Amino acid sequence: MRVLKKLFDSNKQWAEQIKRADPEFFAKLSKQQNPEYLWIGCSDSRVPATEIVGMMPGEIFVHRNIANVVVHTDLNCLSVIQYAVDELKIKHIIVCGHYDCGGVKAAMDNREHGLIDNWLRNIKDVYRIHQEEIEAAATREEQINRLCELNVVEQVFNICHTTIVQNAWKSGQPLAVHGWIYSIEDGILKDLNVCIANRDEISRIHRMKW
Ligand code: CO
Repeated sequence: MRVLKKLFDSNKQWAEQIKRADPEFFAKLSKQQNPEYLWIGCSDSRVPATEIVGMMPGEIFVHRNIANVVVHTDLNCLSVIQYAVDELKIKHIIVCGHYDCGGVKAAMDNREHGLIDNWLRNIKDVYRIHQEEIEAAATREEQINRLCELNVVEQVFNICHTTIVQNAWKSGQPLAVHGWIYSIEDGILKDLNVCIANRDEISRIHRMKW
């Protein structure tokens, strides 16, 4: 109970398997990380960032929280974004939501869920902004999935509104923010065709003066 042997056994096998394919893999990786991507996704155990795009350790910088939300007072998420953009010079930020997200579903019902209700308020805000469009969907399932998509788009813009991203654009650093959604049912990613790569694409209210 106190020692999770299975996990340590499996870790040993995994490390050996990687070393068989590339004996220098860990030696190279230990010197530096040089990822091109920052992934902001849901904490859901079924949506692991690196695996679903077939990448290796070292290729994606990752931040995950319930329902992939980017809040401008969340020091944790903002610190990840700042480090990824300013220090690692990543080129792409990907917000990846997923259909049938438990956080989104919980934000849509009117039950009390405890402390997490404070976090879910951020998703309720997205619901309020797009209430008409969401409730126009025929079934509850479609309504949930539409909010899952709209939540991703909203978070893409929340990222673009940060001074971190706007300052990167100001200095000419190439940086694009993408919105994707993943289906747990078939393991397939879908591009929501929102990709913001310069300040002209964000609202005047949030655009900083240069
Ligand atoms: Co989720």
